[in-house]
Amino acid sequence: MCGIVGYIGDKKATDILIDGLSRLEYRGYDSAGIAVFNDGDICVEKYKGRLAVLEEKIKDKDISGTVGIGHTRWATHGEPSDTNAHPHTNYSQNIAVIHNGIIENYIKLKEWLMKEKGHSFKSETDTEVIAHLIDYYYEGDLLDAVYKAIDKMEGAYAIGVVAKDEPDKIVAVRKDSPLIVGIGEDENFIASDIPALLKYTRDMYLIENGEVVLLTKDDVKIFNEFGQEQKRDIFKVTWDVESAEKEGYEHFMIKEIYEQPKGVSQTLNRRLEDDKIINLDGIKITKEDLERIDKIYIVACGTAYHAGLVGKNAIEKYAKVPVIVDVASEFRYRDPFVDDKTLFIAISQSGETLDTLAALREAKRKGARILSVVNVVGSSVARESDDVFYTWAGPEIAVASTKAYTTQLVAMYMIALNMGITKGTLSTERYNEIIEELKNMPEKIQNILDKYETTQHLASSQFNNESVFFMGRGLDVEVSLEGSLKLKEISYINSFAIAAGELKHGTIALIEKGTLVIALATQDKLYDKMLSNIKEVKARGAYVVAIAKEGNTEIEKSADTVIYIPDTFDELTPILAVIPLQLFAYYVSVARGNDVDKPRNLAKSVTVE
Ligand code: G6P
Repeated sequence: MCGIVGYIGDKKATDILIDGLSRLEYRGYDSAGIAVFNDGDICVEKYKGRLAVLEEKIKDKDISGTVGIGHTRWATHGEPSDTNAHPHTNYSQNIAVIHNGIIENYIKLKEWLMKEKGHSFKSETDTEVIAHLIDYYYEGDLLDAVYKAIDKMEGAYAIGVVAKDEPDKIVAVRKDSPLIVGIGEDENFIASDIPALLKYTRDMYLIENGEVVLLTKDDVKIFNEFGQEQKRDIFKVTWDVESAEKEGYEHFMIKEIYEQPKGVSQTLNRRLEDDKIINLDGIKITKEDLERIDKIYIVACGTAYHAGLVGKNAIEKYAKVPVIVDVASEFRYRDPFVDDKTLFIAISQSGETLDTLAALREAKRKGARILSVVNVVGSSVARESDDVFYTWAGPEIAVASTKAYTTQLVAMYMIALNMGITKGTLSTERYNEIIEELKNMPEKIQNILDKYETTQHLASSQFNNESVFFMGRGLDVEVSLEGSLKLKEISYINSFAIAAGELKHGTIALIEKGTLVIALATQDKLYDKMLSNIKEVKARGAYVVAIAKEGNTEIEKSADTVIYIPDTFDELTPILAVIPLQLFAYYVSVARGNDVDKPRNLAKSVTVE
């Protein structure tokens, strides 16, 4: 979704804004722009297309100002175009605004400004209304005008604002959309995400919902919604700058696929005491709490939702509590069965997905206890939860999520194991066996990665399919869903995942000569059934690629190609079975010449409903 960067200091703002925006490209965008104070005016440059277009257009222009705001836009209101790109200004261009989010009452505000106050608008965006609204209230004090404007605005937003008459200020606001402040020496920054600023500073302020920030070159003041100044501790970012760089890999996605052994091992080791006891320090869910909880909701979006499906299996198996898994956008409007006996688990890589956040708030309102599984430290989901289990995947930049998924799986297994042992529904012996096997996972993932060539080769002959089917039984259904999502996100191939037993109830009608079917057969107790399903699609002409555990070679007689994963307990196979599917999606996307890290129409962090 939209990226925001702002700079105030002594350096050339344009360079810093463009560099910062380039580090937010992964969020997804279709146009880019900047507004910089220059020779007593606000100079606005904004164009449809990639940042390179903006850079090309301004390369011969003399924009040397040292204060400005920049934006990458992911279109919601109005098509991608130069006019709809941000920053937006008021009519006389003395106020400029960048915005991430949606102003829900913008039509009402626009009509009021047009009919009663005589304003005229150029774009179809909701953002332009903000610039006009601030203009309407502006009487020489930008901070005051922004407060008056936000009082009228409904919806979710993070905004950055500058005014021509106050060239030594940037005002920013956060309401439900992410915003951070970077603190430098004689310079300060705003951004929607940490990677944008890492090159310049590791000292950040995490801005809370409803807060307004006033930045000058040598000061940052944070106010709450009532205008009272707030104290904030500095949040020191501990990542290496390199972790947000490609480090020689062609794409972030493949780098992140290869970081999975490390991410899984870190997520595990951070919570293992004496190498074997899961320590949920800070997550104080006692035996009594668990006995009181009569159901668990796991709510998430996209890949995180798929991790939740696997989590359900683990919790139900080890802790014997019924679990309902729901996509956040549906949960919110479903009138769910949530009360004070419910544990609500939110899973989110970014911790900023608006639907997940809204679902969490709804569950909280109904009395549920909130546990979140989050990758980004200090993100909104983390901050609004009662307890947080952080995954230690490191920054995930590619839109298609990979290492976040495997680390989320590990987190869910650990939560389930802990619940099982605390409740006494899981034997110590089995608990120890599973922990020991989880510790083997980094090596087993590496083993699959080392054999990447089989998958790469397969992708080189199968990249031209118009449709692909993924099927499995038991936990393989959940992994099929994730494999299918990966493929469609970055290859744009119409892919579909189904429980193999459901094939005969309709989908088999689509199988014809040459249709690619990826059949997951990693569940020992369902192996023979999968062999039958493979035979069914083979009989209709499908080309079958099977994923099976090493040693289960019988499948070679039915499938055209078999990719083996190391042997493990059935309940842990998702951590391994997903790896070849990620690699397959990646190599297909590369073979089709797609923009792997920034697939069309998608955004990394979906901060609008
Ligand atoms: C977007 C991303 C997906 C991600 C989903 C949920 O759609 O493109 O990769 O799985 O949001 O994001 P979250 O940050 O909440 O895990």
